[in-house]
Amino acid sequence: MRRLKELGLTQSLDVGYLLAPRGRALLGLPAVSTPGPEIEIAVSDGDVDVAELTALYDAVGWTAYTRDPAGLLAAVTGSSRVVLARRGAALVGLARVITDGASICYLQDLLVHPDDQRTGIGGRLVRAVLEPYAHVRQTVLLTDDDPAVGMFYRALGFAETREHGDGTLRAFVRVLPPS
Ligand SMILES: CC(C)(COP(=O)(O)OP(=O)(O)OC[C@H]1O[C@@H](n2cnc3c(N)ncnc32)[C@H](O)[C@@H]1OP(=O)(O)O)[C@@H](O)C(=O)NCCC(=O)NCCS
Repeated sequence: MRRLKELGLTQSLDVGYLLAPRGRALLGLPAVSTPGPEIEIAVSDGDVDVAELTALYDAVGWTAYTRDPAGLLAAVTGSSRVVLARRGAALVGLARVITDGASICYLQDLLVHPDDQRTGIGGRLVRAVLEPYAHVRQTVLLTDDDPAVGMFYRALGFAETREHGDGTLRAFVRVLPPS
């Protein structure tokens, strides 16, 4: 199966959407390990440049983005909310959301530099980027069919669509071929 990360998305088609039921996205989360005090998580006010974005996205292998750096910058700066993790000046993580602020949040892109994974940064980024949207009923995302990533999102209260409710929920996606 063709991996969506090579198509500009970040997951395989057989996983489908993951969905956090209303109010669950930020509630009842298991504790995650805390990163060192040198990591700062902050909402971006546009203080991110294309070179550091490209380096971070390349570090996790998301080449569909980095083949088009201008498009990557447009995607990040055009998002509803972007949260950055920095160690000093170095960008080590990012999460971004596209939302109407009322009924739907789409978590598009969550990434932590491989050198900094499993230190709690990913969990902190998800909480920070979704923090203003606790009232929004649906939070959805697409991700690779990777057991570790599945464990990560389950630890944050998400469920695969086929595991949600009575199991009848399905996700559909349409992706343009690379230009
Ligand atoms: C997925 C990703 C964002 C997780 O970020 P992270 O900072 O490593 O995750 P955290 O340290 O916050 O992990 C929180 C919990 O999730 C679970 N988890 C995270 N990564 C895991 C792994 N590789 N295996 C098993 N469980 C994992 C654990 O329960 C973990 O808590 P613990 O470390 O106390 O056991 C990161 O691995 C990443 O950037 N991967 C590449 C990009 C990607 O696939 N992004 C997601 C698709 S949108």
